[in-house]
Amino acid sequence: MLMDKVESALVNSGPRRALQRFYEAPLLARLGGRIPGGRAVEIGCGSGYGTRLILDRFGAAWVDAVDLDPRAVESARLRLAGYGDRVRIAVGSATDLRAALEAEDDGYDAVFGLAIIHHVEDWRAAIAEVARVLRPGGRFYFEEVTLTALNRPTYRRLFDHPREDRFTAGGFLVELPRHGLYRDERWRTRIGGDYVLGVAELRPAG
Ligand SMILES: C[S@@+](CC[C@H](N)C(=O)[O-])C[C@H]1O[C@@H](n2cnc3c(N)ncnc32)[C@H](O)[C@@H]1O
Repeated sequence: MLMDKVESALVNSGPRRALQRFYEAPLLARLGGRIPGGRAVEIGCGSGYGTRLILDRFGAAWVDAVDLDPRAVESARLRLAGYGDRVRIAVGSATDLRAALEAEDDGYDAVFGLAIIHHVEDWRAAIAEVARVLRPGGRFYFEEVTLTALNRPTYRRLFDHPREDRFTAGGFLVELPRHGLYRDERWRTRIGGDYVLGVAELRPAG
């Protein structure tokens, strides 16, 4: 589901960018490590601010990024034009990266999902797609808004989100290993009432 105007303004505001740059990205990098020279995909890239952090802060050599919103993709393309062919940005859904990016199985060292999966009606399909495109040992960096936040009156009044079948932090974390994505004790997932942030690694079955 696309963001409404109020959420879009908040997500793209200075304070949110500062939070991403000075708190979330360093924390995710500390938890899951950097990916120097790696190939990453970002689902729900919005206007591309997170994509830039993946390149500059995480050290990815190439990032493919996808978002459902053509206007966001246009902004991301403008923001990231200086990175040339290190970045590829497409309109499409996180639930079908083959259609959006021709993403093959096992093709990426890392997937980043920064506040996107709670926007996806079939959020389990998005997690399944994360697992499909990661190589064994590849890492999923996530930061998500939980049902607790979505149920707050202010959230319900101000922002458009799917209403049915949303996840709690626990529900999100329980879903990951169903797709071969395991959290490592060293990485210690952060769970606040309203958010869940962490890293999981794709481990081959058996
Ligand atoms: C809260 S914004 C986060 C944007 C960006 N990751 C950031 O942190 O600034 C959620 C984004 O997910 C996108 N989105 C929603 N459903 C999607 C889907 N099924 N596939 C890809 N992107 C989606 C929206 O268009 C929006 O840009």
